[in-house]
Amino acid sequence: MAKPISIEVWNPSGKYRVVSTKSMPGTRWIRLLADNDCRLEICTEKKTILSVDDILALIGDRCDGLTEEWGEVLFSALKRAGGTAFSNMAVGYNNVDVEAANRNGIAVGNTPGVLTETTAELAASLSLAAARRIVEADQFMRAGLYDGWLPHLFVGNLLKGQTVGVIGAGRIGSAYARMMIEGFKMNLIYYDLYQSTRLEKFFLKANGEEPVTWKRAATMEDVLREADVISLHPVLDKTTYHLINPERLAIMKKEAVLVNASRGPVIDEVALVEHLKANPMFRVGLDVFEDEPYMKPGLADMKNAVVVPHIASASKWTREGMATLAALNVLGKIKGYPVWGNPNLVEPFLKEDATPPAACPSIACHRQNCKKRSSVDLFYWVN
Ligand SMILES: NC(=O)c1ccc[n+]([C@@H]2O[C@H](COP(=O)([O-])OP(=O)(O)OC[C@H]3O[C@@H](n4cnc5c(N)ncnc54)[C@H](O)[C@@H]3O)[C@@H](O)[C@H]2O)c1
Repeated sequence: MAKPISIEVWNPSGKYRVVSTKSMPGTRWIRLLADNDCRLEICTEKKTILSVDDILALIGDRCDGLTEEWGEVLFSALKRAGGTAFSNMAVGYNNVDVEAANRNGIAVGNTPGVLTETTAELAASLSLAAARRIVEADQFMRAGLYDGWLPHLFVGNLLKGQTVGVIGAGRIGSAYARMMIEGFKMNLIYYDLYQSTRLEKFFLKANGEEPVTWKRAATMEDVLREADVISLHPVLDKTTYHLINPERLAIMKKEAVLVNASRGPVIDEVALVEHLKANPMFRVGLDVFEDEPYMKPGLADMKNAVVVPHIASASKWTREGMATLAALNVLGKIKGYPVWGNPNLVEPFLKEDATPPAACPSIACHRQNCKKRSSVDLFYWVN
């Protein structure tokens, strides 16, 4: 028998059983479920990543397994327990085998539309922190090493008038580009498989200022060669796995800044460590890692790397919004509601004091190759 898992229960007499593998920010998501006849069980285990067994125990079944990976084992257990809905608390669902979920008649929800600006702001923060050596300088100060102003102390890069490169100019890449252009008057070069009309339209608006220049590059290599700051925002799939590799690092400027707030495996992290060692003026800002939660050997020792623990979506507004959308995805399936028309325009679901629309905010469609490990949140119910 699986070891019992500690839980906190809301509305114990609710008709529908909904389980969350983690406590999520805010209380609105709890109210929305409890007020709609759901018995909500929130896992209170201290572990960050639950094992398959832990989740099976939460579901009410048992099977051997080691990692928190959403595939056939968990979805079939969920089906046996009477569940028909699951929601991730994330926009990306590369950690979920949607095909296995669909095979078991389980809808997969995700939470887009509330992460864009928050994630872009973190990428901008990493760009600045790396360019101006903020973390190194902070450590120096706290170590009591500052004994007076010096002309060479922590000299970094000026952004104004430099070129920002964006690889993957979708929602987050475009928002990041606008921040760097408006905030720091950087010129832009971007590479995407498709033309980013949302970004290009932005430049057509005259704002009376000295114009910055922009262009869509024909190849990713053009961005890597030309840009002073490069931020990665593509989805992770087989076309973007190790997109930054030794050959591509070699063509970047020696004093470039590279930022990654997309997914860890987009960068070959072993090659990156070697590049950081060989090029002390090359700097990097990382929110995500190839073997998350671990860093490749040597990365932690690199002064020219700023590293943060996958906090790009960690603003209060965004995390509370994600929790609300995840709860409403599940509640919507319980109630038999249709799927909302535009998962990127989800404001009506987020109004604190209003009744949310009678719809599931976002249900993911089937995708191939979607079995990566990460921390996720689960909801399901048993009638
Ligand atoms: N670090 C975090 O906490 C965090 C938070 C939110 C999103 N993300 C990640 O950020 C990424 C982007 O999210 P989004 O909402 O902007 O997605 P999006 O779908 O709006 O944009 C992704 C863009 O990448 C482009 N792209 C795909 N393959 C490419 C390739 N080979 N070369 C260049 N461009 C390519 C697509 O055409 C698209 O424009 C996703 O991977 C998502 O998982 C991370």
